[in-house]
Amino acid sequence: MPLLAIETTCDETAAAIVTRGRDVLSSVVASQEALHAQWRGIVPEVASRAHVERIIPVIDEALSRAGVTRADLTAVAVAVRPGLVGSLLVGLSAGKAIAAALGIPIVGYDHIAAHLYACRLAHGERMRYPCVGLVASGGHTSLFRLRGPIDLERLGGTIDDAAGEAFDKAASVLGLGYPGGPEIERAAVGGNPRAYRLPRPLANDRERLDLSFSGLKTALRYLVRPPGAPADVPPPLGQKCADLAASFQQAVVDSILAKLSLALDRTGCQTLAIGGGVASNTLLRESVENLGRSRGVDVLIPPRSLCTDNAAMGAIGWERLERGEDDGLKLDVSPGTDRTAARRK
Ligand code: KG4
Ligand code: ZN
Repeated sequence: MPLLAIETTCDETAAAIVTRGRDVLSSVVASQEALHAQWRGIVPEVASRAHVERIIPVIDEALSRAGVTRADLTAVAVAVRPGLVGSLLVGLSAGKAIAAALGIPIVGYDHIAAHLYACRLAHGERMRYPCVGLVASGGHTSLFRLRGPIDLERLGGTIDDAAGEAFDKAASVLGLGYPGGPEIERAAVGGNPRAYRLPRPLANDRERLDLSFSGLKTALRYLVRPPGAPADVPPPLGQKCADLAASFQQAVVDSILAKLSLALDRTGCQTLAIGGGVASNTLLRESVENLGRSRGVDVLIPPRSLCTDNAAMGAIGWERLERGEDDGLKLDVSPGTDRTAARRK
């Protein structure tokens, strides 16, 4: 019983074929990184246009890799929130056209909940509820208590930049490429994470499960180019670049770890799941595993291919389809933010 899952919330055009048993038969991701690299960030209009060109070939590739035809499909699931409105609409339109032509159900799903569903895909029954979930990506950094796969209570999150966005901006300050997370991670190898004292705003605030990364980004910027210095100061090279990248990465990880720990204290949950592009970061993965070991909590992290945006995590659509739900052609996108999306559920 193959489900076609579609993901076009931001800058990846992705489609996957997933069975009701949650077996991923294929997962195709067409990245737009090269298109946006020159701006060191995503240009929404460029992203929507690229989705239009790629969506049908990506869906066809997913079908062919899975060895199924369109006629074999039993349902469609589309990420409808949160995201860039133009990008979301391309995936939704393609999904609706296929569902209408085949006369099969279509359900919308939440991209943030899907990032955590990647843990369920990767680790099956170990994903026990209630659990604490952290989604850290380019657009979102939020902490949840999950009562079930699609029942998320937002506990807190960033009050300014997302963690991935902070990595992207820091990479730009250091003269590195886009996306910044993998670039900083590479540059940090051999760097001293204690070489620079960078701020960890809100990390010691035990009243709030909120995070903040914009002050950290600014502190890094001033280390590279002090206020009043000429605009054409060249980016740091060699050991200095490595030390700055390592110190920055450590500060982001420390900030996240402090709030994961607090969330476990507050909820008493015995399972901790993390997802989103930043969850591909090796230091974060190892630090969260250590936190889990020290607290006797089961830690679930998806493989890297399921951390960054993909459509396999759209398997979450089965959670509604199995209840007989069908959004039909009235299904619409709600760009919103992860805060509003979590409220809307
Ligand atoms: O989940 P994702 O693919 O897209 C969004 O939903 O935003 O996350 C992309 C973000 C980018 O900001 C990228 O810099 C960051 O994830 N990222 C990383 C790593 N790989 C990707 N951040 C830190 N370390 C990494 N290895
Ligand atoms: Zn994402």
